[in-house]
Amino acid sequence: MLIHAASSYRTIGLVIALIVLTGFAVYVLFNVFATGTKEIGSEVELAPNRKPYFDDEILETRRLEFVQTVGVGTLFIICLALPLYWLGEPGRHEGRDEFTTEIFIERGQEKYTALCSQCHGAGAVGGQAAYTILDENARYVAAVNWTAPALNTVLYRFSIDEVTHILNYGRPQSPMPAWGAPGGGPLTTQQLEEIIEYLKSIQLTPEEITADVQAGLRNEVIARVRADHAEAGTKLNDATAVLNDAAATTADKAAAEKDRAAATQELTDAFDALIDGLGAAVLGNDRDATASLLDTYLVGLAADNLEAYGELLFNNRGGAGGYGCARCHTAGFSWGADELLAANPALEGLVEPEIPGGGGFGPSLRGVEAQFVSAASQEAFISAGCSPNLQYGNNGVCEPSGQMPGFGDESTDLDGGLLTPEQIAAIVQYERGLE
Ligand code: HEC
Ligand code: HEC
Repeated sequence: MLIHAASSYRTIGLVIALIVLTGFAVYVLFNVFATGTKEIGSEVELAPNRKPYFDDEILETRRLEFVQTVGVGTLFIICLALPLYWLGEPGRHEGRDEFTTEIFIERGQEKYTALCSQCHGAGAVGGQAAYTILDENARYVAAVNWTAPALNTVLYRFSIDEVTHILNYGRPQSPMPAWGAPGGGPLTTQQLEEIIEYLKSIQLTPEEITADVQAGLRNEVIARVRADHAEAGTKLNDATAVLNDAAATTADKAAAEKDRAAATQELTDAFDALIDGLGAAVLGNDRDATASLLDTYLVGLAADNLEAYGELLFNNRGGAGGYGCARCHTAGFSWGADELLAANPALEGLVEPEIPGGGGFGPSLRGVEAQFVSAASQEAFISAGCSPNLQYGNNGVCEPSGQMPGFGDESTDLDGGLLTPEQIAAIVQYERGLE
């Protein structure tokens, strides 16, 4: 279609050129070559069948006026049509740009589906990547699933240049491969632009982001209570299985009934310790009631215990980790090192346990107060993120590719940020308390 548009431009140009050339040729024919012919009077003598040309009377009045009118008319058309055509030019450009963007989005979506969705999920909502952990001698240690962050918010935390850098080079020590030629990948600059154009077209709205962050926090709270009462959870599941088993004896069922009641009570109490009625809502699978009770709990937490609220935000798994910090600042967080160790004690010594804020792709945040004298300067840095070679804190220097994302409103061209200033302040409080 683009080629088509370009060729119709060329055709119009050729037609105009042809008309001009033809006119010129006719002029030359009549004026240059015709000068050799005899003058009109003698022509009449030579060829009596020719009718005489207009006499002076007509030539100087009607004929002259007619030619003048045609001249003025042509001038009028030239003066009006050319500027009008010119005025339409930006519109035509815009149309072409829109058209190009549409094509880029379409092609980018095809590439995303073929190359990225198996890890980052359909619609870029986040997903999982199979990854093999090796020891320092490159021997197999374990097969894990590494969480790949949602990309439907990526342009709220990284600039186009930063995303291009990530696509070009991938992420070292992670499943994210290099895609661009500079990093040895298979895609051209234009193909990367197409993918980014697609990502641009599917970025969430600020409202959707707020809801997504909140949903992640709620899940985090539930996961923590369940983890603290893992035994009760297992007991509940086992008892439910026995009760649903048609072959179970009456005695087994009676015992299971008791277990279930005890486990349910323990979990209910644990959730109710956060907020009244939460236990019944969570265990009764009432999602709306659970969400509304947890929102109340989170508002209270943000008011009473900023550090605990900040810890939830730091570890937020919402958007497959896209809103949190731990995926880059806690090694093993993205592939569940602690869970792996709990399930396979034999891996002790081969797999490092997670150290919250202990550093991963990003530096350790333990002792971060030495970098940022004030909480406010740290908040400003987290809000804006890195730009190439930016100097921050006492001796911090960003990588030329600027890999620390910006979480505040001003970090990218898009309206809205991933976190509110209050949320960033809570995270800073948590980070400055890390020991
Ligand atoms: C084999 C799995 C896999 C494939 C395929 C893959 N990615 Fe990734 N990608 C990841 C993982 C895992 C991460 C997170 C790495 C980390 O935790 O540091 C990531 C990170 C990223 C990031 C950085 C996001 C952030 O907020 O830190 C971008 C951007 C990205 N990928 C884009 C893409 C695009 C575009 C494609 C397709 C061309 C793609 N990825 C294909 C696994 C994959
Ligand atoms: C995509 C990975 C990534 C994520 C997610 C991330 N960071 Fe970072 N962070 C980095 C990198 C990399 C640096 C080092 C600076 C650089 O070169 O970009 C850094 C640096 C920092 C520093 C400065 C530390 C120092 O001592 O120099 C702070 C503070 C920080 N990050 C806090 C956060 C917080 C808070 C969050 C979550 C809201 C977060 N980071 C999320 C990658 C990340």
